Amino acid sequence: MRGNDAVVNVEAVEEAVRDAVVAVPQPVRDVLDGVWLGAPLHPALTDVPIGAWTAAAALDAVGHEAADEALAVGVLAALPAALTGLNDWSHLKGETRQVGIVHALVNSGGLVLNLASLALRRRGHRGMARILSGAGYLGTLYAAHLGGRLSYGYGVRVNHTAFERPRDRYAPVIDERQLDDGGLHRVELEGESVVVARCDDGEVCAISAICSHMGGPLDKGKRDGDVVVCPWHGSRFDLRTGAIEGGPAVFPQPRYETRIRAGKVEIRAARDD
Ligand code: FES
Repeated sequence: MRGNDAVVNVEAVEEAVRDAVVAVPQPVRDVLDGVWLGAPLHPALTDVPIGAWTAAAALDAVGHEAADEALAVGVLAALPAALTGLNDWSHLKGETRQVGIVHALVNSGGLVLNLASLALRRRGHRGMARILSGAGYLGTLYAAHLGGRLSYGYGVRVNHTAFERPRDRYAPVIDERQLDDGGLHRVELEGESVVVARCDDGEVCAISAICSHMGGPLDKGKRDGDVVVCPWHGSRFDLRTGAIEGGPAVFPQPRYETRIRAGKVEIRAARDD
């Protein structure tokens, strides 16, 4: 097989996996994303296998057979962690997607080593079993490092509106008449991007234009009544409140208060946020 064919095949596999994840019904994906939790679910779930395998390594080090149970708990807990990770990965593109693949492959390798270790422990081959689970633990630590890099280095699953510091005094941003087209209008308020629209009851609504999920431009999204749908991964936000109406976003949008003065829409950061 030529090199280019191999690259094409890897990309085809990536796309097939991604398509399979995207085809999962949205309510299930919302659960996997952590919309119900108000925080990404994957990092929380990964703590369980990492903790269990750390305990197993420590117990092995002192020769205690309870290491077997700790190892088994980690293996069981790795499955939901892997599912949520696969779901998170499906949102990624470019370099982050590649780092995500390495993260998943190293974790999978660690899981296989731990399964093999468990099988050997059952047969009484504890020496080799410890070597395998020790190697698996090192892989897990490296994969955890990559996961941290994805979050803290690339900003995957962090709140992309977290550093917005909106002005708390009213300032004019757009002519009221421009909202008559029913569209989503992007305006700037001291460096912050805000999407302004006239809601169905005639009120003027405004929320941050930067999607909290991964920074998608909400002004380029679709409008569904008083809900705006992010053009990148389909998160849905209430234009009135910024509340999440559908994932994958797990953090609501900052909301702005509005008023009309001399034909201009004026906005300021909502005081209750
Ligand atoms: S950037 Fe992902 S849903 Fe908006």
